[in-house]
This record gives sequence, structure tokens and C-alpha cells, in this order.
Amino acid sequence: MDGVNLRARASLLAEALPLISVEEAARTFGAGPRAIEALGPVSFEVRSGEFFCIVGPSGCGKSTLLDLVAGFERPDAGRVLVGGRPVLGPDPRRLLLFQEHALLPWRSARANVELGLELAGVPRADRRERARGLLHEMGLAGFENARPRELSGGMRQRVSIARALAVDPDVLLMDEPLGAVDALTRLRLQDELLTLQRRGARPSSW
Ligand SMILES: Nc1ncnc2c1ncn2[C@@H]1O[C@H](COP(=O)(O)OP(=O)(O)OP(=O)(O)O)[C@@H](O)[C@H]1O
Ligand SMILES: [Mg+2]
Repeated sequence: MDGVNLRARASLLAEALPLISVEEAARTFGAGPRAIEALGPVSFEVRSGEFFCIVGPSGCGKSTLLDLVAGFERPDAGRVLVGGRPVLGPDPRRLLLFQEHALLPWRSARANVELGLELAGVPRADRRERARGLLHEMGLAGFENARPRELSGGMRQRVSIARALAVDPDVLLMDEPLGAVDALTRLRLQDELLTLQRRGARPSSW
């Protein structure tokens, strides 16, 4: 079989397999009578390109579950697989966005978006262009040189989303990333995320 055929078969296989598989994963903190079952056994699959939401009351284990997929925590029971491989630790291909943005205050919006690209050794001109394009896409054209303190809460969150998209992760995990913005901004940003996703941006989970 030639290389093209093999590649086509490999990509068909990749589409058929779930990107994320959580199989009876559970996590308990502490031991004995004071043990807290943060997450009971849970199973689900997310396919590439899917927008998957986890909804539940405060304390039901949503953040714990995202930590397992991001690789910040390991399950006590069950398995978490990404791309068919067990998650053993954090990886830049699986990014977790937090409720509060984590921008570097001394860097401009553009320099914040460039951060991951800089670490990956992307040449200056390329990362500039990518950062500018993403900021534009997130409705932040003209704010490239603003520092985080000069931006509103919703704008800061958009910069952190742009920063995450800049490194083109396979999985973008979001832990209530819009929880800190007002209701109207949240609705608008939700729409923007869906539009980005429909246009072929990242498979996501939050
Ligand atoms: N590192 C930890 N050590 C001990 N207990 C923890 C730890 N992390 C989470 N828990 C407990 O696990 C349970 C689930 O917490 P988790 O943060 O996953 O909930 P959540 O669904 O994200 O809640 P919220 O909607 O309020 O963010 C809670 O009872 C919490 O106290
Ligand atoms: Mg939480």
C-alpha cells in the first residue's frame, strides 16, 4: 500500500476514534472517614470537532474532571485517554482555560497571545502575524498594544482565548472561562466561541 493510502486510512481511523475517552474515572481526595469523593465513576467520549459541555451543581466534580483530562490530576480508578493514550501529565496540546484569565500584566495583549508561540520557538514575524489575526478574530483589533489592566474583563478573557488558540491545541478545556464576565458579555462570547468552532477552530470541552 502506498504512503498516500496509508495516510488516508490513518486519518479515517483518527476520525472514527474518540479524541477524549473517560472510562469509569473517579477521584477521591484524602483517606478514611474524612475522604471526599470529588468525582464518582464517570464515562463519556468526545470526538474531534465536538463542542462538549459538562453541567452540574457546584462541588459535583467538574473542575476535578477537567484536571484529569488536562493531566493535573490522575484518577484513582478508571482511565482517561486522549488520542488513544492515557493522560500522564499536562501537555501543551491539551490546554485548560481557567475562570479567571491568567494574562501577564506587564505584557501587551499581542505579547500575551504570542507567549506560547515564543516558547515553541516560532519566528517573531510569524507569531506577530498570528497574534494580530487572532486578536482581530476575537474583536480586539486596535487593542494589540493595550496591557491587561487597560482592558475590560470580557476583553481579557478574549485575549486568553486567543492565546490558547494561538498554539493550535488538539483539545481546549475551559473551566467556566466566562464565569467572571457579565451576563450579556458572556452570551456574546459564547456566540463567538461557537462561531470560531464552526469555522473549524478547535474541538473543545468546558
Ligand atoms: N485538591 C482537593 N483536595 C480536597 N478536596 C478537593 C480538592 N479539589 C476538589 N475537592 C473537593 O471535591 C469536590 C468537587 O470539587 P470541584 O472543584 O471538582 O467541583 P466543581 O463541580 O468544579 O464546583 P464549582 O462549580 O463550584 O466550580 C468538592 O467537594 C471539593 O471540595
Ligand atoms: Mg469548578
